[in-house]
Amino acid sequence: MPTTQGACLILFEDEPWEDVMVEIIEILRQEHRNIEKLLRVMEQELSIFDRAERPDYEVFGAVIEFFKKYPDSCHHPKEDIIYRKFKARDPGRAASIADLEAEHREGAVRLRRVAQAIDSVLNDQEILRENVDRIVRDFIDNERKHIALEDEVVFPAIVDTLQPGDWADIALTLADRYGPPSQADFEEQFGTLRRNILELEEAAVARRL
Ligand SMILES: [Fe+2]
Ligand SMILES: [Fe+2]
Repeated sequence: MPTTQGACLILFEDEPWEDVMVEIIEILRQEHRNIEKLLRVMEQELSIFDRAERPDYEVFGAVIEFFKKYPDSCHHPKEDIIYRKFKARDPGRAASIADLEAEHREGAVRLRRVAQAIDSVLNDQEILRENVDRIVRDFIDNERKHIALEDEVVFPAIVDTLQPGDWADIALTLADRYGPPSQADFEEQFGTLRRNILELEEAAVARRL
């Protein structure tokens, strides 16, 4: 069996290609579920803000920081590796479905708007409540759409298109990138960070009861 830690780390040892394929897709789906947990936290804090109450800005800020770093250093690189193979195998089909790399860049732009909006609120700069709501919701909604597109359309198309040899190449690339222990520590830090945020949020929810 491949070694996985924190749904982030991958180390394959002579796995049959079908197992490699299933495992990689499952890791990406698990990472999506983890991302969704944090989107829910953000949404929950936004609903407090929308009621003209004070959200927990420590939690809000921690979620923003997580999204500034985690996707581009842990999640997107894995998707980019399989998506590039897909593009090489069937450029027409890949182009007709989505430009994942562009969507990842757009997600980062939306997140920067969220960070600026929350900064403005915290620095008492003038910004309409409805604008803050629109900016944060825009980020959450688009992340969810992006995840749904990957889970429901992109990954099945990739599974359908890639050849056994492609998965062997992908396994090597991933093991090379995510196998070393230093990388394991780095990735595990995000798991710890995520769990901390979820605990902070639980405490914030309990305080409001
Ligand atoms: Fe993605
Ligand atoms: Fe994704």
